[in-house]
Amino acid sequence: MKTVTIAGQTVPQTAALAPMASVADTAYRTLCTEHGACMCTGELVSAKGLCYGSRGSAELCRITPQERPMGLQLFGSEPEFIAEAVKLLLPFQPDWIDLNMGCPVPKVVNQGAGSALMKTPELAEQIMRAAVKAADGAVPVTVKMRTGWDAASVNAVDFARRMEAAGAAAITVHGRTRMQYYSGNADWAPIAAVKAAVQVPVIGNGDVQSGADAVRMYRETGCDLVMVGRATYGNPWIFGEIAHTLAGEPYTAPDVRTRLTEMLRHIRMILDMSEKSEQLAMREARKHALWYLRGRAGAAAFRARSASLETYADAEKLVQEYLAMHEKRD
Ligand SMILES: Cc1cc2nc3c(=O)[nH]c(=O)nc-3n(C[C@H](O)[C@H](O)[C@H](O)COP(=O)(O)O)c2cc1C
Repeated sequence: MKTVTIAGQTVPQTAALAPMASVADTAYRTLCTEHGACMCTGELVSAKGLCYGSRGSAELCRITPQERPMGLQLFGSEPEFIAEAVKLLLPFQPDWIDLNMGCPVPKVVNQGAGSALMKTPELAEQIMRAAVKAADGAVPVTVKMRTGWDAASVNAVDFARRMEAAGAAAITVHGRTRMQYYSGNADWAPIAAVKAAVQVPVIGNGDVQSGADAVRMYRETGCDLVMVGRATYGNPWIFGEIAHTLAGEPYTAPDVRTRLTEMLRHIRMILDMSEKSEQLAMREARKHALWYLRGRAGAAAFRARSASLETYADAEKLVQEYLAMHEKRD
């Protein structure tokens, strides 16, 4: 297995788990790491929130040994707050600190943060310099960006060069503009252009949904690592699929019993790792249950039921009933 060194971490050159707010929490990251995600990043954390002592922000910074190597991600638009927040992250011992310059949501963009920074590259550069200075060599600082703000202003190459000059140790490029949000197809050409333009490692991201896609992204962009987000929903096996496909080995997808048994284990992990009550944590587990059931034959009624799971026992019952029906039908 080939390895690659990114932000000081030498990992198998397979695939990283993308940061995903409200999805890729501790349980999710642990599960994906077990399935072969070679690195992961925490959910975006408000630099200002952290500086003002928000408990919610600090909770997002917890790292367990099972998730490593793992980075923590900050968003913000003021260099002073970013610098202060970097210092506040250090006690959590992230393996690197990532700066979010790709988030498209209005709440973030309207503060001039996330992907809005692609419209203000000088400010983005100041933010990166402030973060690198505050990290003071204790951890590398990386950036996750898009290809530009909109189709008329694709500036990925110039932006990435600025990030590198300001001290970024690695650059992740999601092959969409801000205005695309998550729709349409990701454009991998700017990822290839960034890779050709900078010396630091480049992580390619956007629409990798299979082992074959990962192979194609490595080939078409020359990126150092592939990062996968939504295709991991209810499918942590994608990391195994990618590793096998890259190694030229045959891959067999898990059967439905294996999938749903893993779904229960995932739900158990959510409950065990959450500080919330079973009832509240189950609300978060529901969407995952739905994703594991997606595309399963005859699962429509079970998917509907997953939206009202209240306890772990409810989830167990649902799985038993689905398997009984599925196995009888077969
Ligand atoms: C629900 C959700 C939450 C996300 N949260 C973050 C985040 O906190 N930080 C970030 O940099 N990107 C975030 N993203 C973007 C993903 O990391 C990734 O760039 C995007 O989904 C494209 O990759 P994919 O096509 O493999 O899903 C999020 C995406 C989704 C769907």
